[in-house]
Amino acid sequence: LFVDKGMYKEALRPQIHFTPQRGWLNDPNGLFYFNGKYHMFFQHVPFSTTWDNTTMSWGHATSTDLVHWREHKVAIQPDKLGVAFSGSAVVDWYNTAGFQHKPILDSDGKLENPAIVVLYTTVSGRYNATYGQSIAYSLDQGISWTKYEGNPVLPYQKEGGDRDPKVFWYGDKTNGKWIMPLYIKDNSFSIFSSKDLKNWEKMSEIADLGCNECPDLIQFDVDNKPGIKKWVFWGGAGCYMVGDFDGIQFKPETSSLTVNYGGADYAGQTFSNIPKEDGRIIQISWLRGGYPGMPFSQAMTIPRELRLKETGDGYRLNSYPVQEINRLREKTLYQYDKANRKTLLRNEIELGKGQAVDIDLQLVLDRHGIGEEPHRDIFEMEILGQQLTYHLHTSILKIGALEAQVPKQQNLQLRIIVDRTSVEVFANGGEVALSHSFVSDFSKEQIIKINDFSKEQIQYMKVYGMRSIW
Ligand code: FRU
Repeated sequence: LFVDKGMYKEALRPQIHFTPQRGWLNDPNGLFYFNGKYHMFFQHVPFSTTWDNTTMSWGHATSTDLVHWREHKVAIQPDKLGVAFSGSAVVDWYNTAGFQHKPILDSDGKLENPAIVVLYTTVSGRYNATYGQSIAYSLDQGISWTKYEGNPVLPYQKEGGDRDPKVFWYGDKTNGKWIMPLYIKDNSFSIFSSKDLKNWEKMSEIADLGCNECPDLIQFDVDNKPGIKKWVFWGGAGCYMVGDFDGIQFKPETSSLTVNYGGADYAGQTFSNIPKEDGRIIQISWLRGGYPGMPFSQAMTIPRELRLKETGDGYRLNSYPVQEINRLREKTLYQYDKANRKTLLRNEIELGKGQAVDIDLQLVLDRHGIGEEPHRDIFEMEILGQQLTYHLHTSILKIGALEAQVPKQQNLQLRIIVDRTSVEVFANGGEVALSHSFVSDFSKEQIIKINDFSKEQIQYMKVYGMRSIW
């Protein structure tokens, strides 16, 4: 793509989060890994910085490390069936759809040159829109896309705004099939299946997930229970249920839970085709925010690894930045270690204008005296004018208007990733993941402030200056 001189130098351009060069972005779409590359598509309005359902397309970017992204030309354009809403991507290893007309087979009957297939929602008509699910394929590893002439492959479902197909392969080569969870309406979803990505049959329904849109259905190895696998059904606002999936129906075992507490992250999607040797479940979400005066709008979250753990309260998801992000730690801007008396904890730490930082913070919670002096109940830290607080008594963690209860422990570990327009806070390795967006004031110095009481709670703190990804 053409890159002009000022590109990526704008005042509110996030330094360590993906943003489009120009125009609007929302949901991540069609996340897949193939042959050394991560592909990310996204809801994109190329010529406007606001959401618009007359030109919605799929933008495209690739990365070799989940950190540095290169934007490519728009992958899926609107057509006579309508605009392109959200969806997913799969690698068709067994050529089930027959799109690869010159198949090269390996000894296991798998294609060496599989087609990549994206499944997305076509929406026609501005009002009283008609929704259908459509497909397109690529025979050049995701660079160019051909729409299937038989679209839509799954026509409009009754009166819903049915959308956001997230497809995956279930089972082995001979007995396997494609599974598609699809959003229908009002907290309800349906599950469809297909042998060839072209003909779909409804299998089951899920009601009362707790949120709408952008489903994902993911199988996990339970972290602390070797050999045990569980399924998670996920919805757009990050609500989820844990249970089992038998190829037909999802049977929840929990109520509706959340790990991100309605934060600025939305429409999280996990990558397909991550190699077995890696084995991680990697998710990217839309990081909603405001970008006044910028030629682009909206960003993606830092990619996170999802893990499922069994806790005293039952199964819980954890969400934590992928370790690849650590490679951006360029210099130590500040370090404090209570055990090492040589360092001093200051009340103010200057960061430098527009500098993204990654903070490791460990608190040893001295609950002694709580209740006697009310102000001693709260650990407080101000980051670029945003209030981060932790209430020692109730164990409620807050950033901006967001709040979550962190399971009580003697220590609290916080990972805080700060960019020009966002603060992402992860507690205890991902038990809670809060994403907060704000509009930074570039006339002010960027400072972290800590009061005297809060300083006493700090065991360890390290602030890394992050290298820009641009
Ligand atoms: C979620 C969503 C999806 C839809 C897309 C349209 O943010 O509303 O349900 O496919 O955005 O841009």
